[in-house]
Amino acid sequence: MPGSGSPPTQLPPPTQPPPPAPNPRANHQRLLAATSLLALVLAVLLATSTTPLPRLLRLLLRPKSLLTRPPEPGPVEDTSGHAGRPPCVLWMAPFASGGGYCSEAWSYVASLEGNFAAGVGDNFTLSIAHHGDLESPDFWHGLPEQSKDLAHRLATARCELSRAVVVCHSEPGAWYPPMYQSLPCPPTGYDEPAFVIGRTMFETDRVSPEHVRRCNQMDAVWVPTDFHVSTFVKSGVDASKVVKVVQAVDVAFFDPAKHAAFPLPVGFSVMVPDDDSAWDPVSSKGKGFVFLSVFKWEQRKGWDVLLRAFLQEFTRADDVALYLLTNAYHSDTDFGGKIHRFVKNSSIEEPVGGWAEVRVVDEHVPQSALPRLYKAADAFVLPSRGEGWGRPVVEAMAMELPVIVTNWSGPTEYLTEENGYPLDVDRLAEVTEGPFKGHLCAEPSVDHLRALMRRVFVDREEARSKGRKAREDMVERFSPEVVARIVADQIQHVLASTQYSVDG
Ligand SMILES: *[C@@H]1O[C@H](CO)[C@@H](O)[C@H](O)[C@H]1NC(C)=O
Ligand SMILES: *[C@@H]1O[C@H](CO)[C@@H](O)[C@H](O)[C@H]1NC(C)=O
Ligand SMILES: *[C@@H]1O[C@H](CO)[C@@H](O)[C@H](O)[C@H]1NC(C)=O
Repeated sequence: MPGSGSPPTQLPPPTQPPPPAPNPRANHQRLLAATSLLALVLAVLLATSTTPLPRLLRLLLRPKSLLTRPPEPGPVEDTSGHAGRPPCVLWMAPFASGGGYCSEAWSYVASLEGNFAAGVGDNFTLSIAHHGDLESPDFWHGLPEQSKDLAHRLATARCELSRAVVVCHSEPGAWYPPMYQSLPCPPTGYDEPAFVIGRTMFETDRVSPEHVRRCNQMDAVWVPTDFHVSTFVKSGVDASKVVKVVQAVDVAFFDPAKHAAFPLPVGFSVMVPDDDSAWDPVSSKGKGFVFLSVFKWEQRKGWDVLLRAFLQEFTRADDVALYLLTNAYHSDTDFGGKIHRFVKNSSIEEPVGGWAEVRVVDEHVPQSALPRLYKAADAFVLPSRGEGWGRPVVEAMAMELPVIVTNWSGPTEYLTEENGYPLDVDRLAEVTEGPFKGHLCAEPSVDHLRALMRRVFVDREEARSKGRKAREDMVERFSPEVVARIVADQIQHVLASTQYSVDG
């Protein structure tokens, strides 16, 4: 969903990147300066809050001082320095921000942590620090208690930077030196850590020259799909550095057997008939078949394609509703107005029987309630123009929903005709605005989308069977255990190649 490759939603004024300094003391001071600036921003943001959030944020901000602190001398410490203590992996990501990178980073650290018992973490310890986008209080409050506990624990875990494998998991503009206010990753530049991995992705057909340059500063670049391996290498990222590491989906949490459906209707109805005074947009009855789409309100997500297809294909006489779970992205929140203006302007004719029902859910739905919303739907649909991975898609698939998703970019890694409905691309089109202007993205087919939505609506048995296959595939290929193993193997490989390996 949330544009994994998109820039942060709140960009503080750009800062001049500090020049590289060889002196560790200077590094330390700069680090402290960055930390206190961030703390200041947060203090202002959270000045009125009496919740436990500020404490977490302080904790998330704290590891930096631990990082730069020299190892404490003690009786267990021998003179060779590191004997007996495994090296650490410092995962730096927008853990408290919400959004694509945030949830992805969570899925990795939770997977690794959850599989320590299985031997995955024998050879390294794990710690985290917040980096990249600004923190979102809403997101933090919606997190399950278990995740908050894990955050506290990992944010206070000790990690010596000189022996660390640092994972910079964010949009490359936040990498050292950051192009905007963010704790840099790696915190003191590329020389001090044993190994630095950049984790990123983009939704278009290429990587911009500045991002290519930033990727090539890394020792390795992890991308989620073969699509990205190809676009990164084609754009000039050193092929020997690019490694595919897929994303996990929490199949234990997103398990249809564990959740009751959210009672519908929720949200508000948009295509209210002008002539019907009896129509009550809030309490209209639940429909027999529900399409659900989940996305941030941006052109890239193809909401225009979705509305065009749905409103042309279905009428009020059909026992069907389209639910849009959305939130603002560089826009106001008048989604009803935006939809009306779009429909009026795009010559979509109102069917004789009246508009089919479209409902918008724009309040914040906490992560903990999401499975119930998926469970209330019969199918998931996202005619996106480009995705890094497509987190809501895999969540829906784990929830056994049949999905209709554009067969381009991230989703090509997991979407097949057996486990879903790949949506055809008419052509590739130039992005006309924003940071990826001039790149190419997919233009999904409205006609094919109409046909697929109709097919799912009519042939429910086929749709359900694809939904079951979708969950099977998610469990088999992207469960936290499977992905933890992939990540741990990659880290193991890195440790073996540095002098800081357990045996070395
Ligand atoms: C830990 O490291 C040792 C030696 O490098 C290796 O043989 C072992 O497989 C590693 N353990 C795990 C769980 O990866
Ligand atoms: C209205 O439609 C025209 C042409 O289809 C398009 O260029 C314009 O951006 C649209 N305006 C709005 C507000 O959607
Ligand atoms: C989806 O895209 C992939 C990659 O381009 C392609 O190999 C596959 O045939 C496509 N699937 C369908 C059903 O069009």
